[in-house]
Amino acid sequence: MELLRGLAPTAQALAVVKADAYGHGLVGCAVAAQQAGAQWLGVALLTEAFELRKAGVSGRLLAWLVGVGEPWRAAIEADIDLSAASVGILDEIAAAALEVGRVARVHLKIDTGLARNGATPADWPAFVDRAAGLSATGAIEVVGIWSHLAYADQPRHPTIDLALERFRDALDLAERRGLHPEVRHLANTAATITRADTHFDMVRIGVGVYGLSPGPEVGIAAEIGLVPVMTLAGKLILVKHVPAGTGVSYGHIATTASPTHLGLLPLGYADGIPRAAGNVGPLLVGGQRRTITGRVCMDQVVIDLGSEPVADGTEVIVFGRADRGEPTAEDWAAVCGTINYEIVTRIGPRVPRVFVGG
Ligand SMILES: Cc1ncc(COP(=O)(O)O)c(C=O)c1O
Repeated sequence: MELLRGLAPTAQALAVVKADAYGHGLVGCAVAAQQAGAQWLGVALLTEAFELRKAGVSGRLLAWLVGVGEPWRAAIEADIDLSAASVGILDEIAAAALEVGRVARVHLKIDTGLARNGATPADWPAFVDRAAGLSATGAIEVVGIWSHLAYADQPRHPTIDLALERFRDALDLAERRGLHPEVRHLANTAATITRADTHFDMVRIGVGVYGLSPGPEVGIAAEIGLVPVMTLAGKLILVKHVPAGTGVSYGHIATTASPTHLGLLPLGYADGIPRAAGNVGPLLVGGQRRTITGRVCMDQVVIDLGSEPVADGTEVIVFGRADRGEPTAEDWAAVCGTINYEIVTRIGPRVPRVFVGG
């Protein structure tokens, strides 16, 4: 967090803790991020924001994946900043604010080229007019204007310049209509690291908070100075000796080549081990590099441990830190055809999160 804040020294930092803090544990990570200097927390869903408030987490908190029909009154009472991307959403938020008797803090979202959430540039003038009108009534306060990049992980991609131009145009128009937001924000982790021209007043840092690189074009985590936060570890609950020619796990997609020991690790696809990792998922078992043997099951995987016996209870690192010789989330992403974000985010609720190091 300190490293990333240092890269955007004039901007406030919002730590993105959506999706159970990218699988790391929502409340523990939110508190840790605040302690490390994040002035804001960001989540996608209101349910996530409510969970934080219920756990006693205070401070600025933005929920951005919201639509018509949300429990706006509860959100405003819980002091949550709300994103809005349509006139319909603005109207609902303003009506709820009047009912509650509090001013709702709103961040207007402009779609600068991702074509996901946000008002289009064509709809922006009417959207801003409505926001200015509702702001004049005192129902809402426009505290933010924001957007999200389509190609931040490719720092020289021309769409970034185009998005910046659209963002600046959107800001200019809002200023001309009398809106002076406290925070203009566009950058995610990749843009925070590589594009100072996207920092504006606040950066929204997600994957970097968890010590992971947003992608190869941004850099390798260790080179950027990031240390992965999550280590996924388990223990062998059974080790047994089997003869050569033993078919292993469902469908026998692996067969032992010689007499060997098989270890059983109680982590499966219900826990977030991708099923695509059958026969390819890298592991560190008692300090030795191994690979998942056979299919990944719902709750367990089998590992061919070789001819030397290994003790029951031996520790297995699924992924963690490269500097400790452990497989990384990037290694897992490479063999499973995905990205490190998905590897950490999919770790299931059965896996206890143990917070170390404060
Ligand atoms: C709107 C928005 N902002 C910021 C982020 C953080 O992105 P990153 O994890 O790449 O830093 C995300 C994550 O997907 C997002 O959806």
